[in-house]
Parts: sequence; structure tokens; C-alpha cells
Amino acid sequence: MEVIQVRSIEEIGQVALREVLAVVKRNSRAVLGLATGSSPIGLYHAMIKDHQKNKTSYANIRTINLDEYVGIESSHSQSYRTFMNEHLFNHIDINPKNIHLPVGNGDDLRLECERYERVLQENNVDLQILGIGSNGHIAFNEPGTSFHSRTHVVTLDERTRQDNARFFNHLDEVPKYAITMGIESILRAKQIVLIAMGKNKAKAVAHMIGGSVSTDCPASVLQLHPNVVVIADEEALSELKVKPSILIDGVKLFKCNG
Ligand code: GLP
Repeated sequence: MEVIQVRSIEEIGQVALREVLAVVKRNSRAVLGLATGSSPIGLYHAMIKDHQKNKTSYANIRTINLDEYVGIESSHSQSYRTFMNEHLFNHIDINPKNIHLPVGNGDDLRLECERYERVLQENNVDLQILGIGSNGHIAFNEPGTSFHSRTHVVTLDERTRQDNARFFNHLDEVPKYAITMGIESILRAKQIVLIAMGKNKAKAVAHMIGGSVSTDCPASVLQLHPNVVVIADEEALSELKVKPSILIDGVKLFKCNG
């Protein structure tokens, strides 16, 4: 696991963009696994600017998102479909046919999970972008989720609902359920870039990097993946026990075991 400490959301965007461009330039038909939440916004902003300036094309890129709320329409202002449209898809040349998100408002969620798992089997993710919940969740895989899980419906933790209430008018409006890629599905990605910002992530980040691999902190499973880059700010890394090993242009690089 490689940990890169950056100073701002812009720097997060730049460092994460480098990883995305390396994949997209190597293979114009690559599969990007995408995430929602505030953490990847700097990256999406950097991708849009780069697309406008340098004409990087996403015409044949396929995208697969991690999760979606259950019980709200895809067109709802806080659905993850709307988030992705507003923060990325509406601003790049991606083909809508190549965009995949779970559908959280259908009649049969079990069938939807099976359909999404097939999408994942047919599109091997080259680079997966992840955030991390303050309770250590990845996607919507809450503490206690099996590391062998595939796409499934989850009951959201009260802490997750409270964290995400800032995007809704009231806590009561935050959905109680979601469809999420499972942990096994996430680990199949060839490379993973996890972005973390802010003090409220510090405990989860410290456990993910230096704690025991345990379902108590789902993100700790990333210690078992061979190609993970964590891009985080100083606050998110403030509880980390290891010291940086390299310092380049003010950017700290931590090399960790696992
Ligand atoms: C949500 C998403 C996760 C995301 C997490 C952190 O619960 N399902 O994929 O990583 O929130 O969000 P943020 O980046 O806004 O802190």
C-alpha cells in the first residue's frame, strides 16, 4: 500500500488524475470503477479540466459505480446517478451506454444485484476509485460485512445516515437502504485509489493502513490487495503511527507493508 499525503483538494485531484490518465492512455477501452461522496470531487473536477484542455477522450471508456440508494428515483437530486451526471458525466465525452450504476428503485432488488454482478463479471475494473466512511466502510459495505460479499442490498448504519444527512434537508429523508458492490467485487479491480479527507476519517484511515485486517473496519481488507494507492490530506492521516519515508515537492509518500 502506498500512501500519498497532499495539502488540498486540488492536489488530491492532480495526484488522482495522474493515476486515471495512466490507465486511460494505456487502454482507451479501460474500465473505471467510480465513487460518489465529497472525496472524489477534486478528481472529477481535474478530469473535466484535463478533458477540456488536453482533449483526453472517454468515448470508449466504460464506468461502473460502486453503489446507489434504494427507494429514491434515479432523477432525485441526491441519487448517485444524479451526482455522477452533475460532477462528471455531463462534462466529458463518455458514451451513456458505457455508464453503469445499480438501479435502486426497481421492483426486484435481488434481480438487480444479480444483473449488476454480471456487469462486473463482464467488465473487469482496471482502476477503482474509493472513498472511506468515518466507520471504515468502503462503498456501502458497513462494518461486519463479509470480505466475500458480492453486490447486495444493505441496511445503512445510523452513523452513515448521519454523515450523509448533510446532503438532504433532514435526517428522515436519508434512505435507509442501498445497493452496493460487495467487498469481493471491489477487490477484483486491478488497481485501487482511495481518497480520504478530513479529521473525521482519521481513525478509519489509521485502522485501514496500520490496524488488523478485520470486518470491523471493512477498508482494512485493502491491506490484502497488491496495488492500492491512498491519497489523503494531513487531517485524515493524523492518527497514523508510521512516519513518511519520502518527501517530494512537499508531498509525503508513506510506504506501508501489506
Ligand atoms: C458514502 C459512499 C461511499 C463514500 C463515503 C464517504 O457513504 N457510499 O462510497 O466513500 O460516503 O463519503 P465522503 O467522501 O463524502 O466523505
